[in-house]
Amino acid sequence: MCGIVGYIGDCATKNVIEGLRSLEYRGYDSAGVALMRDGYAPFVIKSEGRIGALEMKINGHNTETGIAIGHTRWATHGKPSETNAHPHISGNIALVHNGIIENYLELKEQLNATVVSDTDTEVIAHLIDESPGHSLFDKVRLAVKKLEGAYALAVISSDDPDTIVVARKKSPLVVGIFEDGAVVASDIHAVLPYTNEIHVLHDDELAIVEKNYISIQKDLEEIERDPLEISWSVAETSKGDFNTFMDKEIHEQPIAIYDTMIKNNWDSVTEDIYALFADGLISNVILTACGTSLHACMIGSMIIEGVSRVRSYTKLASEMESSATIIDKNDLVIAISQSGETADTLQAIRYAKRCGATVMAIVNTMGSSIEREADFTIHMAAGPEISVASTKAFVAQLSVLSMVAIAIRSISWGSFHAGKMFTSAQHEIYRCAEDMQMIFDQEDKIKEIINDISGAKSMLYLGRGLNVPVALEGALKLKEISYIHAEGFAAGEMKHGPIALIEEFTPVVAIATDGPTYKKMLSSIEEAKSRGATIVAIATEGNEEIEELVDHVIFIPNVGELFVPLMATVPLQLLAMFMAEYVGTDVDKPRNLAKSVTVE
Ligand code: BG6
Repeated sequence: MCGIVGYIGDCATKNVIEGLRSLEYRGYDSAGVALMRDGYAPFVIKSEGRIGALEMKINGHNTETGIAIGHTRWATHGKPSETNAHPHISGNIALVHNGIIENYLELKEQLNATVVSDTDTEVIAHLIDESPGHSLFDKVRLAVKKLEGAYALAVISSDDPDTIVVARKKSPLVVGIFEDGAVVASDIHAVLPYTNEIHVLHDDELAIVEKNYISIQKDLEEIERDPLEISWSVAETSKGDFNTFMDKEIHEQPIAIYDTMIKNNWDSVTEDIYALFADGLISNVILTACGTSLHACMIGSMIIEGVSRVRSYTKLASEMESSATIIDKNDLVIAISQSGETADTLQAIRYAKRCGATVMAIVNTMGSSIEREADFTIHMAAGPEISVASTKAFVAQLSVLSMVAIAIRSISWGSFHAGKMFTSAQHEIYRCAEDMQMIFDQEDKIKEIINDISGAKSMLYLGRGLNVPVALEGALKLKEISYIHAEGFAAGEMKHGPIALIEEFTPVVAIATDGPTYKKMLSSIEEAKSRGATIVAIATEGNEEIEELVDHVIFIPNVGELFVPLMATVPLQLLAMFMAEYVGTDVDKPRNLAKSVTVE
């Protein structure tokens, strides 16, 4: 989804550009800035494509100003173009927007002004300009009353040269104020360089932002709310010595799961869960999410059923309401999201709550919408995840889900057994963190495998049991960043159709780790080989026989069955990343994608 930034203070344009750069993973179809000039309408510079292209255009202009707003776009209404790029202006007003206005065509009819772009956003600019309010704040307040849909807005006007007015509904918006200025943005990465104290706007709130000043209002009521203290440092949001954020984040996975373990108080998590289950109210656990988080849900529901014997299943968040899922007060819905802002997951939560369910959220970002809407929240501590393709958040999610499964199980066991089970699970997870190096030590081998399979037009990923969602995740990673078609599925299903896709040298990635499904995986491997497939196996260290049976093997450490998905995913992340580097795509900002999609 788009990224918006506004800055008040010295070098506002330069700081807005830096802010946009830190938010570029939210969309990179076009970019633009609007800067305040005394006595004139705001000066707008915009361009198609990346921030770099915008910077080229800005060079040579005297763009120094004390107030500026900017935007990096993920196109929804109107193709990526300079005309459709934000900011959009009307009279002395300029604005940037993240979200979708569902009734913009209707509102367009009511305007005096002529709309020149294909966007919903330009309609808002004219609506504010034509609004009867006396101050910029009033004009924005009256205009947003007419909007239906999602929006995070930052608005400036040469009639109010010291102010940025912001408004929020559904799309995330945060504000940081400090001694020499203020910054507004779609998320915390753009605020962290200036302050760790973050004002998070809630739905239907507006704010007047000026140097070292903020006034948050809802329905003309002043809202007094302390800012959130964010523990992330700016350094954590930089690549460090790595070429890409994905490479960095893959190698941060041991820390991500370690921190997620130590930064959570699992006894209080158990108490929360105990309170839910103790009186036998909850009989089902439904997990819901999108993208990579959805694959974590699929593993989570299998682990919860396997460990706690409580009925559990996964539901696509974007399908929760449209398929009229049966949910009621006897259901615990667990919503998982790295960003905490994915609109489809938010809608699934709202549907579940309307049906009377209790909602637990597992999120990585502090102060997110999903955390606010859930009944209680468990925070992952994976640190900022910038690369669009999710990696460390996924393994942190799996760690949390293992602990949640044990907590649910503990209700029928009583505290002594739960305590022992928790401790051994924590030890197993710490061992995963330590032993993951064994996989990183095979990176050169994985690169050689890429040389052998790089000509592939399509790849298949097979798994059984807990490894089926791992196969789905492996395929998703490859699709997301290398644009090579890939499909993951349950190995048992292959012979019922997908096997038709296999021809000579079609790469088939088979997750054949030790355990109850190993023998059956060998038969699936044989089926694929007999059609000429090139087999890349993910196997458990110490398995000597498999090297004879397949073309390539990547070994993972021998860990408990519950933790195999966590470990088996890592070589698939590396395989996808090295393939993307080989074919030369932008690993961190793959085409058509965005880090968190805040519109349905
Ligand atoms: C997509 C991201 O937009 O959203 C994926 O590209 C992610 O990486 C998915 O898995 C869900 O995001 P979240 O933040 O809800 O986990």
